Amino acid sequence: MKKIVSLFLAISLVFTSLNVKADEGMWLPMFIKRLNIKDMQSKGLKLTAEEIYSVNNSSLKDAIISLGGFCTGEIISDQGLMLTNHHCGYDAIQQFSTVTNNYLRDGFWAMTKSEEKNVPGLTATFLVRMEDVTAEILEALAEQSSKKDKAAKLKSLKAELIKKATEGTHYTAYIKEFFFGNEYYMFINETFEDVRLVGAPPESVGKYGGDTDNWMWPRHTGDFTLFRVYSGEDGKPAKYSAENIPLKPKHHLPVNIKGVKEGDFAMIMGYPGSTDRYLSSFGVQQLIDKKAPTVVEVRDVKLATMKAQMDKKEKVDIMYSSKYAQTANYWKYYQGQGEQLKTNKVVDRKTQLERQFEEWYSKSPEREAKYQNALKDIRDYYDLTDKYIIGNTYVMEAGVRGPNYVLYAWRSNRILDAISKTRKKMNDLISDASEEEKAKLIAERDKTVNNLIAALENSTKSHFKNYDKTTEKNLVANLFDLYYNKVDKEQHPAFFADVKKANFKRYARKMFWCSPFVKEKRMNKLISKLKAGKEIDESEDKAVKSANDFLAMYFSSAAKFAEAEEKMEEGYRLFIEGIRLMQPEKSFYPNANSTQRLTYGQVLSYGVSDKVKAMVRSKDGLDTYYTTMEGLIEKEIPGDQEFSLPARLKELYEKKDYGQYADADGKLRVNFLTNNDITGGNSGSPVIDGNGYLIGTAFDGNWEAMSGDISFENKVQRTISVDIRYTLFIIDKYAGASHLIDEMTVIK
Ligand code: ARG
Repeated sequence: MKKIVSLFLAISLVFTSLNVKADEGMWLPMFIKRLNIKDMQSKGLKLTAEEIYSVNNSSLKDAIISLGGFCTGEIISDQGLMLTNHHCGYDAIQQFSTVTNNYLRDGFWAMTKSEEKNVPGLTATFLVRMEDVTAEILEALAEQSSKKDKAAKLKSLKAELIKKATEGTHYTAYIKEFFFGNEYYMFINETFEDVRLVGAPPESVGKYGGDTDNWMWPRHTGDFTLFRVYSGEDGKPAKYSAENIPLKPKHHLPVNIKGVKEGDFAMIMGYPGSTDRYLSSFGVQQLIDKKAPTVVEVRDVKLATMKAQMDKKEKVDIMYSSKYAQTANYWKYYQGQGEQLKTNKVVDRKTQLERQFEEWYSKSPEREAKYQNALKDIRDYYDLTDKYIIGNTYVMEAGVRGPNYVLYAWRSNRILDAISKTRKKMNDLISDASEEEKAKLIAERDKTVNNLIAALENSTKSHFKNYDKTTEKNLVANLFDLYYNKVDKEQHPAFFADVKKANFKRYARKMFWCSPFVKEKRMNKLISKLKAGKEIDESEDKAVKSANDFLAMYFSSAAKFAEAEEKMEEGYRLFIEGIRLMQPEKSFYPNANSTQRLTYGQVLSYGVSDKVKAMVRSKDGLDTYYTTMEGLIEKEIPGDQEFSLPARLKELYEKKDYGQYADADGKLRVNFLTNNDITGGNSGSPVIDGNGYLIGTAFDGNWEAMSGDISFENKVQRTISVDIRYTLFIIDKYAGASHLIDEMTVIK
């Protein structure tokens, strides 16, 4: 009987997968062999599971990088050359840009290794291996009864397991929770700290289409940047040094310039940041009604305020370009998410699953006892937070991450506090100490204080590097004014009550008049005083007071909902445990959480929505899976910031000088589509063919599936990637950096 049932299931599964071509799933590399490899091979993969993920031999995973924890990169030469997105390198490119050397505008190409630029703070992390530690952890947690004891046990056990796994090596490790605490995995990593900028196209290539085209197909963006990973002379990670050498990687991806066609196997390995695929119908409703529109509302004002000054001065434009791009990226994301959650009827689908779950557990008394409160506890949480979610979003968007001074003033004031406390405590000790002990205590005091002052000095320098006073003052006035008018009085920060006539323009003027935290010169003076041993108390400063208010609200709201949140989390854990038992034939994959994942599928077009069709200025790419130079040229708007093109690129187009990068039809392809399942953090990920060769770099998703982080859209969800041939064309033909092509293993 059992056999027949499973045979029946197997047939119906094959059937659905043929029909729907669903390629949902961000799979954990260590389980590919068990869960996915057969399916992958049937779809065109020529590799074994061991060639993708192996602990003992070099495998594809050894070419995959978590770039600074926010993006993905891949190694494409035996000299540590790394490919990622332009929008992932944006911050680095911006850091090196000035009005005279504007690399954002003009691009940057190191013609020799000595010209490559170390990016302070940027890291490249490889996965060494992963381990299932679920059994140890769940067993230990089962012995604890209170939430507090469980948390303490989890912390100590994690530290113990990590220590055991990394002892005697230069590796680091972390353990993360999966399926809301139903499973735990440990990731052992190797992190390189010397990463250098090698090449970046101008924004007019790397960000072509700007925010207008962002999150949309058809697309014509050369969204790529090159870095190089350096190691110490022994091949191990080392801090930046001129003596460091290019990394000799365990594996690098060969680059396939033969081109892709519809239906070809395609997989993506990378570091997706976060998804919420198990979000309940109540959670989705709150997101649609409250959270998404609020983020958009605040960011509208934030963006317009920055833009006004950026348009006036090139210097300000460079300073704020990265913050602006990041803000705009998720401003548009939330518009799309809100819209598509409705269009794609995600609430209905979630509700359906919840009904199914209820039906399932009600069929058995044991199940009923275990699961009957799960959904209720989840719903209670959203009912409770419904009244606060808008206020909380304002605290974050207009406060904590609003004007730049907020976090800076809060942190700086904490350092000042720490200095005063250290001095006071140590001076008390010193006055009571014996003569011999005094010198030692004084040295200790001075060391601690000097370290704190150095920290303040460093953060001050980097804070004011990208800082325009007028822009900041306007952000204070505009964002706080919006906050005041849009949020219930009970949810205002305390200092709002002291703002006369709620005139935030005046408030901003006054703050900028006197606070040291909004002017570098004043801060430097303050630091000199500290160094001279002066006692400094800025707790009554306007900037500090408002910053403290915002942060206090942020922390207290977490505390206020702690109990409901705890129940909600347990509700989700049970809900997921239940739906997995309810559908034993289905392979489940966990939410993205910045750990390495693999998604596979194929090169595939889709039906672009009428709404998007009505918006495009070029039909190129509408009915197929790729775009070309023809469409790119058609879209040009000379002089427009988003759609202008470099003259050199137009020249190459006129001459059709595409070299070995043209497709069989003589055209140059720019971007293409696959039905892989990715999200933010996957940016820069390699798109890999059935032979393990690189065919593209993933950089975005499409408008019709903006709800995809909450619920995968089988029919329309697509990944947008730069065709590797366009990337190589820009490096080779446009920039003349053919020495970089020579490093690669090119499959022709
Ligand atoms: N939407 C892309 C992502 O989040 C980022 C694209 C950057 N381009 C832009 N115009 N801001 O991965």
